[in-house]
Amino acid sequence: MVRWGILGTGGIARVFADSLSRADSATLAGVASRDGDRAAAFVAPYPGAEAFGTYDDLLASPSIDVVYVATPQHRHADDALAVIGSGKHALIEKPLVLDSGSALAIDTAARDAGVIALEGMWTLFNPLVGRALDEVASGRLGALTSFSANTGPIGVPAGHRALTAELGASLLWECLVYPVAVLTAIAPEFATPNHIHAVSLMREKDFDFASAVLLATGTAFAQFGGAFSEGAGAAASSRVQLGFENGWMELTEIYNPSTLRIGWSDGRVEEHIADSDAVAFGYEIDAVSRAVSGVEALPDRVRLAQTIRNIALLEAIRAEALRLS
Ligand SMILES: NC(=O)c1ccc[n+]([C@@H]2O[C@H](COP(=O)([O-])OP(=O)(O)OC[C@H]3O[C@@H](n4cnc5c(N)ncnc54)[C@H](OP(=O)(O)O)[C@@H]3O)[C@@H](O)[C@H]2O)c1
Repeated sequence: MVRWGILGTGGIARVFADSLSRADSATLAGVASRDGDRAAAFVAPYPGAEAFGTYDDLLASPSIDVVYVATPQHRHADDALAVIGSGKHALIEKPLVLDSGSALAIDTAARDAGVIALEGMWTLFNPLVGRALDEVASGRLGALTSFSANTGPIGVPAGHRALTAELGASLLWECLVYPVAVLTAIAPEFATPNHIHAVSLMREKDFDFASAVLLATGTAFAQFGGAFSEGAGAAASSRVQLGFENGWMELTEIYNPSTLRIGWSDGRVEEHIADSDAVAFGYEIDAVSRAVSGVEALPDRVRLAQTIRNIALLEAIRAEALRLS
């Protein structure tokens, strides 16, 4: 059993802890909060999990193998380096960090410490995404011609972390990191496109509230975008659609796709539905647990080298964006 610790007790930490409690290969060993009572309340439903009143206390514990960093993005770099410095493996929520320099520092530190560090881009662990990638790699659909994705209008309560500039708020880094990850996994040449066009509706410096992006290589284009919707309810559905020389592909939902449809040039449409027992973070937890126990290496698409390229692309998009205020 791989023993997991969690830094932070917010929304996604709860979903992750629930997935951990159902995993075969892993167990929730500890949770750290900046507040000891909050940590104690968090672990109450999980017998055997220890509560830590500081992040440092969890990192000092010999009973934890791998740490899931579930803090706001403005502190991912420092938290990740602290985990690595403690000699533990690190799974850091998306976006890994907010700049390339920090991503490279994490890579160097992880190599030096001999631990695994990666971004928790759960979409890339989804078996339907894996299936889509295998299909593209087989060449049967021919070359990619177009990629289109929207992340929907994302309903976020007023005052939420995702709308707080000091905590790293940005639609690009919060949400458009998903289409960037899927796009470059399918077509790595898009990591350094020939053309970048983007428009961002800015709230504050580096805080885009809405963004639209158009990228082009010599033979294909990709478009994706979305917007926050302050105070509104749950997000409308998202979608990824890809055109190829010999057909098309569609993933319903970009975050955790449940259906993959493939349309072939002879008129056939193939549909793959996710296993109904699929647990939110289960695939990611299993893959990382197998990797840290040396059972099976992580696929290239989730490795840090790929994430570093994606962060550089997000930086380039931000630099090129026409800013509207
Ligand atoms: N994979 C996904 O689908 C998904 C979905 C949502 C979010 N995320 C990512 O997960 C991370 C956490 O997001 P979340 O929505 O769970 O955030 P959240 O609900 O605001 O929780 C963040 C937690 O971080 C801790 N924290 C440490 N320093 C903090 C600070 N200065 N301000 C606020 N909280 C601080 C807090 O726990 P303590 O006070 O207990 O220490 C807090 O509960 C983000 O990077 C986000 O992008 C991923």
